[in-house]
Amino acid sequence: MNYRDSFELNDLKFFASVFDKSLLKHVQNLKSPDKRIKKAMIYFIKTGGKRIRPFLIHKTGTFMGIDRKILNDFSLAVECIHLHSLIHDDLPSMDNDDYRRGKLTVHKKFDEAIAVLAGDMFQVLSVKTLTDSKNLSPIQKINSIQMLSKANGLEGLIAGQSLDIYMKKNSTLKNIESMHLLKTGALFNLCFSLLANIKNLNIKQKKELKIIGETVGKIFQVTDDMLDRWGDEKTVGKKINKDFLKANIAYKFNKKECMAYLHNIQNKNFNALKKFFYKNNKGLVYISSLVDFIVRRVK
Ligand code: IPE
Ligand code: IPE
Ligand code: MG
Ligand code: MG
Ligand code: MG
Repeated sequence: MNYRDSFELNDLKFFASVFDKSLLKHVQNLKSPDKRIKKAMIYFIKTGGKRIRPFLIHKTGTFMGIDRKILNDFSLAVECIHLHSLIHDDLPSMDNDDYRRGKLTVHKKFDEAIAVLAGDMFQVLSVKTLTDSKNLSPIQKINSIQMLSKANGLEGLIAGQSLDIYMKKNSTLKNIESMHLLKTGALFNLCFSLLANIKNLNIKQKKELKIIGETVGKIFQVTDDMLDRWGDEKTVGKKINKDFLKANIAYKFNKKECMAYLHNIQNKNFNALKKFFYKNNKGLVYISSLVDFIVRRVK
C-alpha cells in the first residue's frame, strides 16, 4: 500500500470550506416573503460541521468516475437532510441541547418555532435540490428522490430517532444496532446508494456498497456515543455525559469493549472496501484511511 495517498485532515478542512460556500449560496438563493427561517438556516450553516457525508460522496464518487456536478447535487441534498436532523435532534422535546459545535443550538439562538421550521425547510430544500438538478436525467432524479425519502423517513432516520427516544437503557445490543442503522446508518448508506444508482452497478457491487455504508454508519454512531462518554466537552462542542439514561453503546460496554466492537466493524468495512475497490488500489487506500479517521475522531 502507498500511504502517501491516504486521507489527511486538511483534505476534509479544505473541502468543507469550499462546500460551505455552495451550501450558503444554495440557501441565500431561496426566495421567500419571510426572512426568519433563512436567517436561522444560514446561522446553522455558519456554525460549521465536519461535512463528512458530502466529503464521502465526493471522494467515493470521484473514484467511481462520477461527474462532479452530480456529486455536488447529492452532497447538498444529503447534508440538508443531516442539518434538518440535527436542528430537530437538539429541540427540548428531543435531546434538549443548548450547544452544538460550540455554538448555541438553533432553538436557543432563535426560538423553538423557528427551529422546527428551519429543520422542516432543510428537508424541503433537500428534495428541491434533486428536483431542480440540471445534471441528473429524469429517471435518475426520480430514483434519487425515492432513495432520499426512504432514508429520511419511517424506514430510516425518522424511525431511528423515534426508537432512540423511547428505547430503554437496558436494551439488547441487537436493538441498539438496529436503531443505529436507522438514525445514522440510513443517511450514510444513502451517500453510497445514490452513487450506485448513477453507475448502474451490478448486484454484487451494490451489496458491497451497502455493507460499506452501513458499517460507516455504525462506526460513526458508536464513536459519537463514545465521545459523549469519554470525549472532551470543549472539543466535542456540546454537553457530554448526557446519554447515560438512554440505550447507548458507551453505557452498555466499557471503553475497551467499545474499541473491540469498533475494530470488528472496521474489519467488515475494510473487507467490503477491498472487494468493491479490487481494481482501484488508490480508492481502497484513500477511503479506508478516511474510515480510520472516523474511528479515531475526537469531535
Ligand atoms: C452528528 O453528526 C450526529 C450523528 C449522526 C451522530 P456529525 O458529527 O456529522 O455532525 P457535524 O455536522 O459534523 O456537526
Ligand atoms: C443523532 O444522534 C442522530 C441524528 C439523526 C441526529 P445523537 O443525538 O447522539 O447526535 P448528537 O450527539 O446530538 O450529535
Ligand atoms: Mg439524539
Ligand atoms: Mg443529540
Ligand atoms: Mg450523540
